[in-house]
Amino acid sequence: MKILFTGDMVGSAGRQVFQRVTNRLRDEGRIDLVIANAENAAGGRGPSPEIVEALFAAGAAALTLGDHAWDDKNLTSLLETEPRLIRPANFPPAAAGRGMTTIETDEGPICIISLIGRVFLDPADCPFRAADRLIGMTKSKTILIDFHAEATSEKIALGRYLDGRVTAVLGTHTHVQTSDETILPNGTAYITDLGMTGPKDSVIGREVEPVIQRFITGMPQKFDTSNKDPALEGVILDIDIKTGKTRSIERIRERA
Ligand SMILES: [Fe+2]
Ligand SMILES: [Fe+2]
Repeated sequence: MKILFTGDMVGSAGRQVFQRVTNRLRDEGRIDLVIANAENAAGGRGPSPEIVEALFAAGAAALTLGDHAWDDKNLTSLLETEPRLIRPANFPPAAAGRGMTTIETDEGPICIISLIGRVFLDPADCPFRAADRLIGMTKSKTILIDFHAEATSEKIALGRYLDGRVTAVLGTHTHVQTSDETILPNGTAYITDLGMTGPKDSVIGREVEPVIQRFITGMPQKFDTSNKDPALEGVILDIDIKTGKTRSIERIRERA
């Protein structure tokens, strides 16, 4: 099965390019299933329930979030009731929602786990131990992990820690795609960052000039989301769902 997993979706430009490119890749027979990180899908901030529903209607089989999970307070109740929408599992136990989901396909179940890093991010429980616990709970052979983290070392370390125990460890959060996609020695597919599904002509999704001014002056600026040069970034994984083994990982950047 060919699964497309896309990097942080940013704003309306990101939502549009997501819909157009996934439709085209389906028509071309290049993908069977789509999973998206939607953490910045609303003007660069966390999505509203309406945006989440629109992304499911556009064909996303599951959606992951990140540090922007709580931006829209209306999402809290949907996180409790919608199993296909997950936030990092290593948030405090009392946080709303869930960090793991299983979707059923013709070829078998696919477990998706969301984790968040602890380097240069707000305090969270240990993602390594959370992964151990959740992997022990699922009966699915195919396990995909979205590791939402800043530091490349933390992401590579989690990939190596889980190598051979999960199907894929896919980094998100930086909005910059890395060129290190690989199959690790024990068979786990890995990439440090999937990149961004949003406006490439930007500073990680925002209009360029206010970000420069912020750095030059140190003064607050309004950061509007850019709409220029949208692209979809992510990977296509070719997976044997019954064994959970990855045949290949292909990094993609596609414009509509
Ligand atoms: Fe993001
Ligand atoms: Fe993030």
